[in-house]
Amino acid sequence: MAQSTESRIILIVDDNPTNLEVLSESLSIAGFDVAVAVDGESALEQTEYNPPELILLDVMMPGIDGFETCRRLKENPLTQDIPVIFMTALTDTMQKIKGFSLGAVDYITKPFQKDEVLARVGVHLKLRNLSKTLEEKNVLLLQLTQDLEQRVAQRTAELSQSLEELQRSQVQLVQSEKMSTLGQLVAGIAHEINNPVGFISSNLTYAETYFQDLNKILQLYLQYYPHPDPEICEELEAVELDFLLEDLPKILQSMKVGTERLSNISLALRNFSRSDISEKMSVDIHAGLDSTLLILKHRLQTKKKSAAIEVIRDYGDLPLVECYPGRLNQVFMNILANAIDALESGIGDRKGETKQNSSPLTLPVKQQQFRTPPEDQASQTKNQQPIINHQIPIPTIRIQTKVIETNWVVIQISDNGPGVTESVKQQLFEPMFTTKPPGKGTGLGLSIARQIVEEYHQGRLSCHSALGEGTEFVIKIPMK
Ligand SMILES: Nc1ncnc2c1ncn2[C@@H]1O[C@H](COP(=O)(O)OP(=O)(O)O)[C@@H](O)[C@H]1O
Ligand SMILES: [Mg+2]
Repeated sequence: MAQSTESRIILIVDDNPTNLEVLSESLSIAGFDVAVAVDGESALEQTEYNPPELILLDVMMPGIDGFETCRRLKENPLTQDIPVIFMTALTDTMQKIKGFSLGAVDYITKPFQKDEVLARVGVHLKLRNLSKTLEEKNVLLLQLTQDLEQRVAQRTAELSQSLEELQRSQVQLVQSEKMSTLGQLVAGIAHEINNPVGFISSNLTYAETYFQDLNKILQLYLQYYPHPDPEICEELEAVELDFLLEDLPKILQSMKVGTERLSNISLALRNFSRSDISEKMSVDIHAGLDSTLLILKHRLQTKKKSAAIEVIRDYGDLPLVECYPGRLNQVFMNILANAIDALESGIGDRKGETKQNSSPLTLPVKQQQFRTPPEDQASQTKNQQPIINHQIPIPTIRIQTKVIETNWVVIQISDNGPGVTESVKQQLFEPMFTTKPPGKGTGLGLSIARQIVEEYHQGRLSCHSALGEGTEFVIKIPMK
């Protein structure tokens, strides 16, 4: 036990040399180390530089008396735990009570009974040791508890992090599985559409030539036989030959336009659904953007509640880029679909704004600037219409592409929707973060987009936005 190595010193404080001698002798014989002091002050001094295990303290002394000495001992944190036993006259009850009230643990009466002194000293030393051990154990227990709490907290944090990671990868797995199934389905449909569209379109060319030939022969007949049989005349009138001859080419033309559109869609679908291609290849980024836009076309058109969304394609001169085309198209899709969502949700808000604002030119300056393409690129802008001077800003998505620093392809996709708050901006790319109602948003679009851009292409995907000032996503892909 720790106690055995500690001091076993008993300090006796008494101004009476006889008392000191008697007590010292008894205690020494009993195996204690004894220290003595003849007044209160020297007792306090000694106690501080060599603390005893126990103090036997006389009450009546010259200088400060026993009570004052005890009070000072109990006041000092270094000495307050040392048990004090008063030595009093047998009859003085008041002194005994005062001693206890000052923190003494016991008293012995003069003249001393040797065995009683030893017995009391023994008991109090044992008590003192027990309480010391208890204190040490308490401290240890407290430490252990704190340690344990810390470890439990750490484990809990680790577990909840792995749970979160597990959930994330599960959701991403499901999502990419869905995308690949969808990709195969889309590719299959595109293939199936392609064949019939192909023969309709090639047959239309023959149909046009045959019609022209027939028409030529008809005109010759009419020229050489201007007065045919009445039955033929009747029939010619019934079918309204002139109108028929004028309308048929138009019909053929519109059928041609239709098949052309169908084959474009089929091409776009095939282009878009190349998610099964697991190798990098050189692709035309603009073709990917265009096919994604074609697939989203129905969402860009005028609806019951919302105006048509204008798309400004501000394409620069891009070389072919080494990338995973299907995956990159998914990035375009996720960002463009978000922009459309934002513009649809923002339309109500903007109308509210314009109503409150009575000025005839209600476009915020920022939006006007935002909606005007920079002059140097204006020449490349397709579909460009004047978009300023509208009372209600036209919901617009602008796609700009360019090469910077000779080896980075940059694709900027911006919208003049409601923008996002700083706090939403901080969390946008986190998996399962969404501000959309359940069933509408999964919160995965941007986290998947970032993974595709940054992990698969060693690129960067960032977002610039402020509330009321639209949103811009910037995709940077190294050209290699
Ligand atoms: N163009 C944008 N304008 C405003 N907010 C946007 C835009 N794009 C993304 N956000 C915000 O980012 C969130 C996360 O987007 P995303 O990861 O695609 O998940 P989801 O579209 O399913 O909500 C959206 O819920 C929306 O709050
Ligand atoms: Mg989304």
